[in-house]
Amino acid sequence: MLEKISQLIEEISNLNAKSLEGVEALRIKYLSKKGHISLLFNDFRNVPNEQKKVIGQKLNELKNLASEKINSLKETLAVADDTETDIDLTRSAATSHLGTRHPLSLVRQEIIDIFARLGFTVAEGPEIEDDWHVFSSLNFADDHPARDMQDTFFIQRSPDILLRTHTSSVQSRVMEVTKPPIRIICPGRVYRNEAISYRAHCFFHQIEALYVDENVSFADLKQTLLYFAQEMFGPETKIRLRPSYFPFTEPSAEMDISCNLCGGKGCNFCKHTGWVEILGCGMVDPNVLESCGIDSSKYTGFALGMGVERITNLKYRVKDLRMFSENDVRFLDEFKSVH
Ligand code: DAH
Repeated sequence: MLEKISQLIEEISNLNAKSLEGVEALRIKYLSKKGHISLLFNDFRNVPNEQKKVIGQKLNELKNLASEKINSLKETLAVADDTETDIDLTRSAATSHLGTRHPLSLVRQEIIDIFARLGFTVAEGPEIEDDWHVFSSLNFADDHPARDMQDTFFIQRSPDILLRTHTSSVQSRVMEVTKPPIRIICPGRVYRNEAISYRAHCFFHQIEALYVDENVSFADLKQTLLYFAQEMFGPETKIRLRPSYFPFTEPSAEMDISCNLCGGKGCNFCKHTGWVEILGCGMVDPNVLESCGIDSSKYTGFALGMGVERITNLKYRVKDLRMFSENDVRFLDEFKSVH
């Protein structure tokens, strides 16, 4: 029996297999119930007592050697199996879902680009503002209704600290610290205490433009507005100015563009007038220049302000303002092809 055991030890030490199936066949041959080693264990019963110790040890040695050998063959083949069959270098890469730019970001960037071509640079200011920059410096009377709790979100129960209601606040911040010529465009988020509906939200986005220098005239404003409207909505676009009122401009106007849906013929969108309103503008009131430390006998300026949601609605017909802040990917995905 000892001889048989030694022979098997020799045989098993030299075992090799090319596949996992091959290893399994070897396991069956040596270690299964009817395998060579199990049969030897069965015969062990007949070994004379005085030899049991020596043969028993040898048998255990054989069994351990066989299981170790088979396990190690299995492991080597499993690793090889992984590297050889699981990686297919010819497969195309898995596609990952690419995000899209938010429509408001797209339109804001487009507006900034148009004004950049006229030499305007971006200026930003804080969303949490003080009364001076949002109202007083801009010539709002102390009892102006815009300061009313209905419109403005006040912070810390202080009537002085508030969420800005328009980006015109950036005008006064820049004028306070900059010597003309000033040519800035101020994009940003603004807040108003409005009930949320399809046409109003408690926050939205505005872009303000300001140009202050010697001899800036209303004609400069008109030409800038026409350039902007035609770059944004196409070369056929017409503009018209209607007199209006803002505390910080004199004279003030509101600008309409010819309806970009019906081309000015009249449709439901423009309520059959052929025109749609897009922004407010005017010549900077001399009081505002003086409040910000700019000599109004030497310098003049124009300003304009528009709502980014409004422009986006005109460009992409988004009827419900709430879509902009709900982050519904089906809505956002619609802007994938833009830019
Ligand atoms: N700040 C105004 C608003 O929130 C918009 C505006 C109107 C800005 C006329 C201007 C302007 O600069 O000249 O409704």
